[in-house]
Amino acid sequence: MKASQDMKADVAEVLLTEEQIAARVAELGRQISADYAGHEVTLVSVLKGSLPFMADLMRRIDLPLRIDLMEVSSYGGTATESSGLVRILKDLSAPIDGRDVLLVEDIIDTGLTLNYLLRYLKGKNPRSIKVCALLDKPARRLVEIPLGYVGFEIPDAFVVGYGLDFGEVYRNLRFVGVLRPAAYES
Ligand code: IMP
Repeated sequence: MKASQDMKADVAEVLLTEEQIAARVAELGRQISADYAGHEVTLVSVLKGSLPFMADLMRRIDLPLRIDLMEVSSYGGTATESSGLVRILKDLSAPIDGRDVLLVEDIIDTGLTLNYLLRYLKGKNPRSIKVCALLDKPARRLVEIPLGYVGFEIPDAFVVGYGLDFGEVYRNLRFVGVLRPAAYES
């Protein structure tokens, strides 16, 4: 599939505007700053989809914090469906034992990727671990996972933008939109 030169033409509907996202990220930052007051939090973001969210959220948290980055790829699924089989492409660069970790995710769909990551990170003995997800698509959840912070609950549709891709494209859209089925069926 090749994205249109005008990426917005491949978007059927804008679900969340740039302004809505910015306002909610600021709220999440305030809430996290209050909840972790007196602690040094480590934000762990999962590349590549969480990159814009992480960059915006960390600047809305008014506490000393560290960041680390992981990259995972799921395999065995299809272009729009995850399989739960996760391969770690990039691991943490510093230990997290005894630290308060906040796992920053772009979207929770089936929950399989997050379920794997949480088990993996808990094995590294953090003092606490919570999840902060920008988007939650509860309709398709296969494993129940406690989400500490959620930006927006969204309906069951394949979305792109603000970090989220289809075929590695559309990540740089400043809004979150529903991709036209024609864009991935062709
Ligand atoms: P899960 O394992 O099914 O929860 O899928 C999580 C991962 O699948 C996310 O981190 C995204 O990379 C990708 N994903 C799930 N739904 C969407 C979507 O609607 N648009 C883009 N990527 C998605």
